[in-house]
Amino acid sequence: MVLLGMLTAEHFGLEVGGRGWLVWLLEASFSSLSKTYRPVDPNVTHTYDDIHTLTSHQPIPFQNDRKDSNFVSLTFIKNQKRQHIYVIILTIDSSFMANSLHSSTSFISNPVNLGHSKIPAQIPGSVSFPSRYLHNFNLNKSDGRVLRVMACSGVEEVQVDVSLSPRVNAVKPSKTVAITDQATALAQAGVSVIRLAAGEPDFDTPVLIAEAGINAIREGFTRYTPNAGTLELRSAICHKLKEENGLSYTPDQILVSNGAKQSILQAVLAVCSPGDEVIIPAPFWVSYPEMARIADATPVILPTRISENFLLDPKVLESKLTEKSRLLILCSPSNPTGSVYPKNLLDEIARIVAKHPRLLVLSDEIYEHIIYAPATHTSFASLPGMWERTLTVNGFSKAFAMTGWRLGYIAGPKHFVAACNKIQSQFTSGASSISQKAGVAALGLGYAGGEVVSKMVKAFRERRDFLVKSFGELEGVKMSEPQGAFYLFIDFSSYYGSEAEGFGKIENSESLCRYLLDKAQVALVPGDAFGDDTCIRISYAASLTTLQAAVERIKKGLLTLRPGVLV
Ligand SMILES: Cc1ncc(COP(=O)(O)O)c(C=O)c1O
Repeated sequence: MVLLGMLTAEHFGLEVGGRGWLVWLLEASFSSLSKTYRPVDPNVTHTYDDIHTLTSHQPIPFQNDRKDSNFVSLTFIKNQKRQHIYVIILTIDSSFMANSLHSSTSFISNPVNLGHSKIPAQIPGSVSFPSRYLHNFNLNKSDGRVLRVMACSGVEEVQVDVSLSPRVNAVKPSKTVAITDQATALAQAGVSVIRLAAGEPDFDTPVLIAEAGINAIREGFTRYTPNAGTLELRSAICHKLKEENGLSYTPDQILVSNGAKQSILQAVLAVCSPGDEVIIPAPFWVSYPEMARIADATPVILPTRISENFLLDPKVLESKLTEKSRLLILCSPSNPTGSVYPKNLLDEIARIVAKHPRLLVLSDEIYEHIIYAPATHTSFASLPGMWERTLTVNGFSKAFAMTGWRLGYIAGPKHFVAACNKIQSQFTSGASSISQKAGVAALGLGYAGGEVVSKMVKAFRERRDFLVKSFGELEGVKMSEPQGAFYLFIDFSSYYGSEAEGFGKIENSESLCRYLLDKAQVALVPGDAFGDDTCIRISYAASLTTLQAAVERIKKGLLTLRPGVLV
């Protein structure tokens, strides 16, 4: 029954009725070997309503191994048995894609030959399957359209309670991940998408760091490390925090995790009780409010203004603090805005925080090294009276181009760090031993990552300058020049309300992003994912040549929306 739910118009993001849908009914035999499905009758058409009577379940392994094909080649593997399966392919306009690129599939447990169904030649028509199983997933076609593929077979329905915990239901999936996946899928299908949605450097991990990882494997440093991380790495982190941030910690006040994301979630879980408030200035990194929800706490969003460089107004903060306020999350340099909090503003915030004994601060400093002079980084814990109440998070993903190594850490008073350590001990245990060796090498590169990191920062700066100049030439666009990180958060809201031919109305940041992905083939992230629907985030972790092409495409797309705009 649940899968029936999945087949509603909502799920497809389309109206029911199958307008413009073409369905091929394919028959195929399959075994443990890969087979290419062949069309029974490629001219057959079929309507959505008929498909919608099928039910299903359970995962099926599949792969699309003929990306260039008109038809979809799938591998179904089940107990080496040959089985018959019917596959229906719907071709659907790519405009529905935004919320439907995930797949859900089901499995056939017994070989059943369904025989040939009677296929009508025209829409509307119907086809009947003596089947209870439906396989439902999306694949990409090389022309950029998305195929929704459904296959069904006839076996007994398995009763499974598929309800989920209210905690999971309260959490929104990450839109940055969703858009990145969509763009990747389009690119794999041969569409030349420019991907500026992901939050990761386009540089390779510096060689010295990578070699330290390789050596760790060669030397057999491949076992569990202490839960909190190796003493070697934690000591190196303490040294870094002292030298670069003016912060004194001992190794037992450091917890190394599988990425800063894990460090932040564990901290939120460790300090928040149900009903506590987590104060988050917007625009925010997408995960903060969801992490608060996972901890049964309430995110309290404090809006900021583009005219004030998206920096938190201390008066707004003061007016929102209550006895329920438990954690203030600050991110500087910021994802998604690139704003950097100046020391005098942090001092003001610290004075307000100090009046609230229950209030802790999580300072996310993961973009610390990606900062453009004259902006400078200040660690919140270094401000008077703040060390005792601040949890400093940092990591290796961004500055050292180590996103895939999954390495981050938290530093703070022992009481809090020990609580995070306890959660981690029952959760993932210590981070990868190999990555930890690489992390030691990264910190050994010198102050702020030395020459290796400053080269990358120089490249980011050039790209920022290029984008700021290029978008500055566009009418009706507002920006705050980023001082750090590698994102530009641009206000395109003056384009909302425009009608795009063959697309519809641009209502908000999400539809503008979908429009730009569809028509300009540039993947960007809608601002509403970050709590500000007026803007769109562009990640400039891409070469200047790529950015030049992206700007051209975006401008062209906007020009179509609003002829007369300066390009
Ligand atoms: C602001 C911010 N904090 C934390 C993270 C998590 O980084 P990681 O888990 O890769 O260390 C990210 C990654 O996008 C980020 O942008």
